[in-house]
Amino acid sequence: MKETIALKDGRKVVVRDISPNEDIRALCKFANDIIEEDVYILVNKKVSAAEEKAWLKGQVEKVRKGALVHLLAQSGRRIVGGCEARTERGRESKNVFLGIIVSKDFRGAGLGEILLKKTIELAKKRLKPELIYLTHMGPNDPARRLYEKTGFREVARLPKWTPYRGKRLDRVYMVLKK
Ligand SMILES: CC(C)(COP(=O)(O)OP(=O)(O)OC[C@H]1O[C@@H](n2cnc3c(N)ncnc32)[C@H](O)[C@@H]1OP(=O)(O)O)[C@@H](O)C(=O)NCCC(=O)NCCS
Repeated sequence: MKETIALKDGRKVVVRDISPNEDIRALCKFANDIIEEDVYILVNKKVSAAEEKAWLKGQVEKVRKGALVHLLAQSGRRIVGGCEARTERGRESKNVFLGIIVSKDFRGAGLGEILLKKTIELAKKRLKPELIYLTHMGPNDPARRLYEKTGFREVARLPKWTPYRGKRLDRVYMVLKK
């Protein structure tokens, strides 16, 4: 898919499937800016161009095998958002796990909601999931509100699970209502 979307603040972004020909520098910048910001995500180590290239190859292969939907949002040459839906392994292969990130200066303009909804729509078509879920760290209110607005409900909470800035935060599991 490839669509130009107008955000609430008037800016336009292109939302599209990840491609084998991604600009590795743009991908690295997107990932490393988020890692530097130290937001509520699991990844906390910056990536090199070689690592990102290998990662891209893996993502493209998973898309080809029908195990992944990965949408990117692009503004000019910048990647400013990404949302992926991937199948779990073996017996859980009809369980689909979602993850989403929007660059700091593109937040609050509706991009997260658009990316999440479009990823779910495509995942339903392409991955035929029986269950769609995601997780967030306890205090991540922007993420939780977005997920609740999209139809996710909390089903489990792992107390003091994820180390973050010298503390341990709950990890919350949410499932999409049918
Ligand atoms: C969570 C995240 C993806 C939201 O993306 P976004 O583009 O800012 O979200 P949107 O502008 O589409 O907002 C959609 C809804 O999310 C909620 N939301 C977004 N930002 C919020 C904030 N700062 N405070 C409270 N709710 C917020 C609201 O319900 C909002 O709907 P509304 O505008 O009708 O109130 C974004 O904040 C982000 O990437 N954060 C850093 C990485 C991260 O935490 N990823 C999720 C890991 S679980």
